[in-house]
Amino acid sequence: MRKGILIFLIATVVVLGFAVHNVWTLLQLLVVDGSEDAISRAELPAPKSGAINERPQLIPKIIHQTYINESIPEHWKGPQQSCIDLHPDYEYKLWTDKKAREFIAAEYPWFLETFDGYPYPIQRADAIRYFVLHHFGGIYIDLDDGCNRKLDPLLAYPAWLRRTDPTGISNDAMGSIPRHPFFLKAIDSLPNYNRKWPLPYITVMASTGPLFLSVIWVHYKNAMPEGNDVVRILFPDEYNHHTWSFFTHHLGNSWHSNDVKLIFWMREHWILITFIGFTVGFSLLYVIYSFCIRNRQNNGKSRFAFTRTNFYRRISQKDIELNDRHEV
Ligand SMILES: *[C@@H]1O[C@H](CO)[C@@H](O)[C@H](O)[C@H]1NC(C)=O
Repeated sequence: MRKGILIFLIATVVVLGFAVHNVWTLLQLLVVDGSEDAISRAELPAPKSGAINERPQLIPKIIHQTYINESIPEHWKGPQQSCIDLHPDYEYKLWTDKKAREFIAAEYPWFLETFDGYPYPIQRADAIRYFVLHHFGGIYIDLDDGCNRKLDPLLAYPAWLRRTDPTGISNDAMGSIPRHPFFLKAIDSLPNYNRKWPLPYITVMASTGPLFLSVIWVHYKNAMPEGNDVVRILFPDEYNHHTWSFFTHHLGNSWHSNDVKLIFWMREHWILITFIGFTVGFSLLYVIYSFCIRNRQNNGKSRFAFTRTNFYRRISQKDIELNDRHEV
């Protein structure tokens, strides 16, 4: 009996250890919030302040955006124009599908096979932004983000990303000097993360999207970058919550589908889901434990052991029947 409990505990520890090891980066995302790298509101000059010109301008004045082709949909023309109008001294690059592919073929031919093989076009739209930031530097802005003020103060950092609620970072607005080590790591990691998950939304998020970039960001931070290698973080207040924030956000996500509803539901009910996960996990362990006991007790001859055996056997078989039915 003691031995049974010991096996149960060891099995539990092994299973938990395995599970935690697998989602370790995701767990880290819950505690790594990037506040130590925050671009604080106090260091940002006001929109019309003369202090803006006194700051170094490390990031080249280029705005990158992506779309299928040159025909931008009506609802995004406003935000797009707001960024162009505020930045007459910036170069503007719209990466259409055709231009993006030509660029990858010319500059990063090792990636072309992965790029062409992505099942969802949004994966290419995600990937291309990391490559153009690595190659040219500049500021990437999603088409559904409009500009609320000039981006010049953000040119003062070698690289920056945008923090999202409740955790992680997004890839909808980001800036970088050419060949920054963070974006090098991002493009270098893309082929390894090119996996298919059960839902399209998860596949996109984890292979090229914000989840991918958040995981890369956690790994990158774990290596303790210093000086110009540090990636600074723009927090929601500075992103779009105030009159002095940099961006305005407009609705119209072009690629969300039905599975997104499920994900959002899961995000809202993550405590329940965690609870169910643990319940299922421990039930499975209990079934395994019952098997151990049954096998052991079958060797013993006491009447007590016999009764117990029957009890456990009934439970086990019921569970197995249920499991079998689930698999059909
Ligand atoms: C651009 O793409 C959209 C969406 O696929 C399509 O409806 C439109 O005809 C395309 N425009 C051009 C000029 O090819």
